[in-house]
Amino acid sequence: MPGFELFGPEEQKEINDVMETGILMRYGFDGPRKGIWKSKELEAAICSTLGCGYAQLTSSGTSALSTALACLGIGAGDEVIMPVFTFVASFESVLSVGAIPVLTDVDETLTLAPDAVRRAITPRTKCVMPVHMCGAMADLDALARICKEHNLILLEDACQSFGARYKGRALGTVGHAGTFSFDFVKTVTCAEGGAVITNDKDLYIKCDGYTDHGHDHTGVDRGADLHPFIGYNYRISELHAAIGLAQIKKLDRFLAIQKKNHGELKAILSTIPGIGFRNIPDPEGDSHTFLSWFLPTEEITRAVIAELRQQNVLAGNFYWYDNNWHYFRKWDHLRKAATLNNLNEDQRKTLLALNPEGFPASDRILGRCVSTAIGLTWTEEQTKEKGEKIVAAVRKVLAREKAPVA
Ligand SMILES: Cc1ncc(COP(=O)(O)O)c(C=O)c1O
Repeated sequence: MPGFELFGPEEQKEINDVMETGILMRYGFDGPRKGIWKSKELEAAICSTLGCGYAQLTSSGTSALSTALACLGIGAGDEVIMPVFTFVASFESVLSVGAIPVLTDVDETLTLAPDAVRRAITPRTKCVMPVHMCGAMADLDALARICKEHNLILLEDACQSFGARYKGRALGTVGHAGTFSFDFVKTVTCAEGGAVITNDKDLYIKCDGYTDHGHDHTGVDRGADLHPFIGYNYRISELHAAIGLAQIKKLDRFLAIQKKNHGELKAILSTIPGIGFRNIPDPEGDSHTFLSWFLPTEEITRAVIAELRQQNVLAGNFYWYDNNWHYFRKWDHLRKAATLNNLNEDQRKTLLALNPEGFPASDRILGRCVSTAIGLTWTEEQTKEKGEKIVAAVRKVLAREKAPVA
């Protein structure tokens, strides 16, 4: 990943189809569009690729999350359990619907730790939202069990994991709904875009209206559509959908390349004594967008990052623990409740009560974790070279750590 690495004439052809009619909007203009419906086609392709009943395209992964939450009936006063390791969009969308994000520890799956989820449940909990980070999955059996026992909604933020599977089922299809991002750096990209998927027809109809100002889409005249509820404009454009349509047809190829490169890199890194790898509940279902590895201590990990930087080979290796966008530790704006408009009082109190030292178990995991992004265009030699440079950096640091102090 990302899918843009393999853009080609296919994307151009899909865009040209749209430009030939000039109809860039996904709804209406039935005559002039001459049968070109790229958004509808992409929704059908998502359903057949993932094996789900319904897909609603949106303008982004963030708006897909907001849509899913709102249409699942989650709003003011409701608590949503979400991991401390994710992208900021996860809590932004919870706040956007008036609900309260309840940050919760992760384990070595790099997403929600089931025992921490159990401890986080209160009478106000309405939803558990695992985030399938870096192309692979949460422990969905355990989380689904908890949701069933406590009558909670399971919403899968699969924005980073299009095409990954869990025990044969596509991520996003296990919970009540799943969301995807098709932004520029995802496996399948539309430049900007997202989707909500579900097997629940009623939920899908709500998502369809919610993303288009509440239109009921029952007639051919948009001006005569009824609005049974208030919605927003989270629509995708035909141009964006056209790119996604070309990309989704390449998904199997992307996944096969990623699996190969991931396997080769993992074999090289496995030669390092003391290295560990992310716990992946169903390794066969990994989409292999990243290889996430652990070193014995935070100090060693920091030293390896410094060494990779020194050797000018850090690019593509992510130390999330220090990343401003992906780990709670650096979300000062969230802890300060730094919004431009008023939050509701429940939200404000929860955010201001967040303790930066409140997640030592997650700190111990993320502090030792590096994720290496897997390229689609790497040759075997390049994969080998990247792996060997990482190995050399780690070995150098480990040797120095073990060296007696003079
Ligand atoms: C886990 C997660 N959720 C949500 C999003 C939001 O997606 P978008 O950038 O399309 O709004 C992202 C984007 O990277 C993400 O990684």
